[in-house]
Amino acid sequence: MRIDPWVGTQFADYNKLLEEFGIEKFDGSKLPNPQRMFRRGVVFGQRGFDLIQGAIDGKKPFAVLTGLMPSGNMHLGHKMVLDQANYFHSLGADLFICVADIEAYATRNTPLEKGRTIAVEEYIKSYIALGLQKKRVQIYFQSTRKAVKDLAYLMGRKVNFSTMKAIYGMDDGTNMSHMFAPLVQVGDILHVQLEKYGGPRPTLVPVGVDQDPHMRLTRDIAFANRLCNVTVAKDGKVGIFVKSDEDVEGLLKVAESVASEAGFKKLKKIVAYKALYVEDAEAKDVPVLDAAMIALERKRNPFTFFMPSSTYHRFITGLTGDKMSSSKPETAVFLSDPPADGAKKVMRAKTGGAMSIEEQKKNGGKPELCSVFEMLLYHLIDDDAKLAEISEACRGGQRMCGTCKKEAAALVEAFLRDFQEKKKAVGEKWKEYVIDDA
Ligand code: TRP
Ligand code: SF4
Repeated sequence: MRIDPWVGTQFADYNKLLEEFGIEKFDGSKLPNPQRMFRRGVVFGQRGFDLIQGAIDGKKPFAVLTGLMPSGNMHLGHKMVLDQANYFHSLGADLFICVADIEAYATRNTPLEKGRTIAVEEYIKSYIALGLQKKRVQIYFQSTRKAVKDLAYLMGRKVNFSTMKAIYGMDDGTNMSHMFAPLVQVGDILHVQLEKYGGPRPTLVPVGVDQDPHMRLTRDIAFANRLCNVTVAKDGKVGIFVKSDEDVEGLLKVAESVASEAGFKKLKKIVAYKALYVEDAEAKDVPVLDAAMIALERKRNPFTFFMPSSTYHRFITGLTGDKMSSSKPETAVFLSDPPADGAKKVMRAKTGGAMSIEEQKKNGGKPELCSVFEMLLYHLIDDDAKLAEISEACRGGQRMCGTCKKEAAALVEAFLRDFQEKKKAVGEKWKEYVIDDA
């Protein structure tokens, strides 16, 4: 199985995805006041999230990066990742929002100028209307951020064609801009750790699973640039292992100073193994040692990065029961839909109701198969108790689809009306969020 980030695929079995690609389960129980995406299992997987949890718990700096493709209109599905980003931002993260105009040009042939207009009118203004705060936020365009493009080029050193083929299925017919687009995303994700953008710190990229290939590539490249590897060895001992062949002894000295400064005493250096064993350290100490090593490695190698972390959210099903898609207007509620039209789409949506009212009263409905319930769960009802009540009443046959849809439609209509007013009020204020460093 291969995930293709440019061809929307519907993933029915998320557990299988976890297994096949080695994505870890996401546990949001330690998050302070978790946003509903985290409470309700919408965010189901992660890579390296312990670094982010550590930064939150220790009140240390971290960054969050999300990207948008400026092609097509913004719908409710696109709002999910913004909701998550806003949550981490509220916890103190630096927030970067990337307009993937190069990617849109490379993979969808959207001219840069047009991409810019779509980004501003459809996405950036909407993000602000949806509550994006200005402090610690930068919105930028791939095409005007030199650091991103430079990194894309330079990081390409660490990946070859055979890997690109294996990850993305690229072939002899793939155009070179498309071939390069994933490296631009690598540049996006890693550039936030350059000095100019805040320095090395844990970085979270909340995405849908379709973006996991990019995360694997970026994490591999970040690791490939490291001079040392701080990890638990096969024998269970914590070690700092030098990967580089240059100045092994010098790096082992750095490792020693890091370990003793962190309070460890039982250090065993084996130069022949290029290893420093920290025998009184445990697995839980690895992140601390690694963070200290990253800070010092940076002095020797400007491309020293924390491996970026990611979280994965489920996709919202389209209102018709198919995939939600910008190219099929009936599948999604667009933020620009006239409120009455949005409501009508909900009234026509596929539910998990029975064939007849009698049958539904007798056997109940199936909220887990219902796109209206999904709308309530993802977007419209924030009160967990109220949502649970609806689900139980549906299952128990006390709640009928007609009234249920009417309620959901009214919520959508009210949401769109309020949102569109706020969006109108944004006016030229969007410019204050954009940092164009062309
Ligand atoms: N590839 C992403 C998409 O298809 C857009 C994107 C570009 C992105 N750069 C990013 C997403 C960096 C997250 C982080 O939507
Ligand atoms: Fe869906 Fe509501 Fe019908 Fe249940 S009652 S199947 S939640 S529309």
